[in-house]
Parts: sequence; structure tokens; C-alpha cells
Amino acid sequence: MVKKLVVVVDDDLGILKRARTILTEDGKDVVVLKSGEMLFDYISKKGYPDIILLDIRMPESDGYEVLKELRKREPDGQETPVIFLTGNDDDETEIRGLSLGAMDFIRKPFVAEVLLLRVNHALELVSLQKDLANEVEIKTRENERLSFQVVSALADAIDAKDTYTNGHSKRVAMYSLEIAKRMGFSMERQDEIYMMGLLHDVGKIGVPDSVINKNKRLDDDEFALIQKHPEIGGSILGNIEEMPRLAYGAKWHHERYDGKGYPDGLKGDEIPIEARIITVADAFDAMMSNRSYRKMLPVEKVKSEIVQGKGTQFDPKIADIMLELIDEDIFTNGEV
Ligand SMILES: [Fe+2]
Repeated sequence: MVKKLVVVVDDDLGILKRARTILTEDGKDVVVLKSGEMLFDYISKKGYPDIILLDIRMPESDGYEVLKELRKREPDGQETPVIFLTGNDDDETEIRGLSLGAMDFIRKPFVAEVLLLRVNHALELVSLQKDLANEVEIKTRENERLSFQVVSALADAIDAKDTYTNGHSKRVAMYSLEIAKRMGFSMERQDEIYMMGLLHDVGKIGVPDSVINKNKRLDDDEFALIQKHPEIGGSILGNIEEMPRLAYGAKWHHERYDGKGYPDGLKGDEIPIEARIITVADAFDAMMSNRSYRKMLPVEKVKSEIVQGKGTQFDPKIADIMLELIDEDIFTNGEV
């Protein structure tokens, strides 16, 4: 086991000596220092110890000031455990020390067993907290990976229904992500829109395969069935309470910027930004792939369709970003 490093700060040499003897005999590495200034000097050269025993009454800065300064200097995520050494047993001292973030008190002159019990207890507590934090972190990652895998599997299931649009959901997710990046979305929102893109057509699960894959003109009833997929998708994803926004893309990716889309006829900024992005990404991918009812369009034609759709079908700002991406040949030069 790695030896724990204890730093003891006290202006009383007798105390320092005694603490060093007791703690060394217990298997600790011990550094003794005479003032808060020496503590900061030590930390700047050697880094943070596992625990600090800190005298309250010292001639230069007292223990409270040193602790305050320590917390100020510590980087995010670092909170070195501090136990105060005090000769004073009034409650005020304890309250003040604890509220500044001290873990415990040890009274001087100390009894060896008490000193060791308190120090070891504090060290154990800190290491348990660290283990717990690590465990939570690992579980959170696992959960994220799991939901991502479930969503991807679901996206594959959606795409498998439509023999012509193999990989459509993944491509729409990727285009949407790229647009979101250029719009300055945070990492968290970028992940979110990727998921929304993957699931935007989830409502097609509720539309018969024979309608989805029909290579002749759809009749009115069939068309009405297809047009139900945003609502179906919205209500499927709306049940996921942990991610209430996940449904936005599925529900509103067939809305139009001019308000003439479906299912709700939302207009402009009434349509959530994620859905506006997915609409453009979806249209781009549809035009760039062979469909049951037509062949893919040449890039120049795709561009002019997007230009034409600015302000009518598409949010003009998002359409411009899509055009930029096409010009940079990000998605058009090979398989995605
Ligand atoms: Fe759709």
C-alpha cells in the first residue's frame, strides 16, 4: 500500500516532534512545517499531501487564514483534508473551523491513539469518497454508452424498414451534429442532437412497410399514413421522461420555416432549433440518396433546392451552413 503523506503545521516544535514520532510509527510519511507560509511553499514545490494537520494559533497567519488561503489556491476538484490542532476547547473555535471546511479537530496536547484514530478515520473517509466518485463516474459512462447503443440499435431498426434509405438516420444524425457544431452548440447539446437525428424517423415504426417501400405514387390514404410518422415518433419518445427534448426532432422535423409544414404548422423560431437543423439535414440526405420513387440528385441541383428553400422550407441561417458544408465537400465526397 502507498504510504500516506501527512503534513503537520504548528509553530510549537515540541508538538511537531511528537506528531512526527506518532505518525511515523504508524507508517505515515510525515513532513513538519512551522508556518502557513512554509506550507504554501511546500505545496508549490511538492504538490498536495494526503492530509494536513493545522494549528489554529500561530504567530503569522493563523490556522483559519491558512485554510481559507488553501481553499482559494486549490484547483477545481482538489480539496485537501484538513484537521485543526487546537488547545482551545470552546465551541466557537470548532464551529468556525468546521464552517471553513475543516474535517475534524484534535486537541493538544494530544493522546497518541486519538491522533491516530482521527487521522486514519479522515484518510479512510476521503478514500471512500474518492472510490465512490470514481464508481459514479464509471456508472454514468456505462449508462451513457448503453443509451447510445440502444438508440443506435433503434435507428438501425428504423432504417431496416426502408430498403432504399439504408443508413439514413445515421447520416442525418451526423449532418445535424456538424451543423450544431458550427452553430456553437455545447458538447452536451451536440450529443443530444446526434441522438435526436438518429431517432427523427422513429415514428416510421408505426407505418406499414408496404407504404414505406412502395415505388409507385402513394394514394391519399397512404400519404396520410406516412404523414403520421412525426406524431407517432413524438409520442414514442415523449415517454422518455429522462430526456424530454429527445422527442423534438422526431415530432417537428417536417415543420416548415414558413409555417406550412406538419403536424403542428409551427413557424420560424416556434420550431425548436434542433428540429430546424434536422429538417435541413434530412432534406439534404433525401436528395443525395436514391429513393424508391426517384434517383439521387446531382450536387448542383441539391444546392439550388436548398437555396430555394431558404425562408420557406428551411431556416435560412441553417440552410446557409448546410450550403457551406456542401461547398467544403464534407459529406458529398464519399460514403458517410
Ligand atoms: Fe421524416
